[in-house]
Amino acid sequence: MKTLTDNVTFRHGATIKTRIVQSPMLTNSGLNEKVTQDTLDYYGAHSQSAGMIITEYTNVSPNGGPSRSWAPDREQLAVYNDDFKPGLTKLAKVLKKDGNKAILQLVHSGREAEYRHTLGGRVDVPSQMKFSWIDYPLHELTEDEVWQVVKDFGSATKRAIDCGFDGVEIHGANHYLIQQFFSAFSNKRTDYWGGSFEKRMNFPLEVAKEVFRVVNKYAPKDFIIGYRISPEETDDKNNIGYTWHESQQLLKKLTENFEFDYINLSTMDYKGGPEDVAKNYAQLLGEAIQAPTLELISGDIHTVAKMKDALNYVDLVGLGRATLADPQIAYKLANNLEDQIHLQFDEASVKKSHLTPGIIAVVANTPYFGIPGLDYLQSLSTTKLSDAVTHDGAK
Ligand SMILES: Cc1cc2nc3c(=O)[nH]c(=O)nc-3n(C[C@H](O)[C@H](O)[C@H](O)COP(=O)(O)O)c2cc1C
Repeated sequence: MKTLTDNVTFRHGATIKTRIVQSPMLTNSGLNEKVTQDTLDYYGAHSQSAGMIITEYTNVSPNGGPSRSWAPDREQLAVYNDDFKPGLTKLAKVLKKDGNKAILQLVHSGREAEYRHTLGGRVDVPSQMKFSWIDYPLHELTEDEVWQVVKDFGSATKRAIDCGFDGVEIHGANHYLIQQFFSAFSNKRTDYWGGSFEKRMNFPLEVAKEVFRVVNKYAPKDFIIGYRISPEETDDKNNIGYTWHESQQLLKKLTENFEFDYINLSTMDYKGGPEDVAKNYAQLLGEAIQAPTLELISGDIHTVAKMKDALNYVDLVGLGRATLADPQIAYKLANNLEDQIHLQFDEASVKKSHLTPGIIAVVANTPYFGIPGLDYLQSLSTTKLSDAVTHDGAK
């Protein structure tokens, strides 16, 4: 019988003191893509939210981001050269101050690197094509350029190790470049990187190979390596990107060939599943994940009852927005303070959580969000944010 406060030891030896993990969430707190005091205040306030905290996505390549920006001077973070290391080293330190594991999420945003275009840069994609929601030019990566991105994931991993992170997560979900290569909708290539289902798996597999090469050479033995996937890309029934059947095959390959510590399923409902079978994604993809790789899921786990229920399906429970409302969930569970868990946005919780203006803006615009107090966040996001929340630590 699994419980939320179990110790969990990953296959390479790292142990966390709870099954709760903080899901990656963009804070939009970077300045010139670098960590700011705002970033550090937010993550410092979350150092007791979980046993393992996965940072927001950080760009591995100069064109790998930033994605959309909530304001011209506030961006996604990056890790594509050594200039980013001092800030990321501070970030790893604040995350680990209460004994958590700190994981750096690595991304190339591909077509979603909208703000790179605004900054005068190039936006890279697997295949040149029209997307109804994109009005900026796209560049189809050459075969060599794709290999360069693979290498960039390796260099970013080396920097994560140098900065003191306990692990990295390869972001293969949420429509970013890795998913764009895996998707039949957005990958129309006919070279090594596309043209058949097997070849559409090459990009994620080569990225994994490069990350493992770097980890095996430079990282401590217990370094944690995760991979995030969206279970299906079937939103447009006329343009299926991939189904859960294909995700199963990719996860089987990834976890047979590489010693992933965990696989992270990105969903909006941890109990959700496909239309063609009765099982949910956690169960179906769990069947493909090879032991001893652990399974983590996030999606609408916004009450303690749901946290407990999620353990019926997975090893690790991912909390995103719940940790924004209460940044001490794991601490309270471990110290018999369950009745003090405060899953509501209000003035006190926003301050305690050091929510950045960027994260408030994103969450306030997510109308299906079920945590009470969303109207409070909405009032902040439309009024003068700096009056209510920290900005560069000035308040
Ligand atoms: C403000 C915000 C930012 C997010 N940024 C990221 C991100 O950087 N990387 C990622 O993989 N997922 C990101 N997500 C998705 C979350 O990790 C999570 O999967 C999603 O919020 C569902 O979980 P929840 O219901 O517990 O919030 C973000 C979600 C939110 C609300």
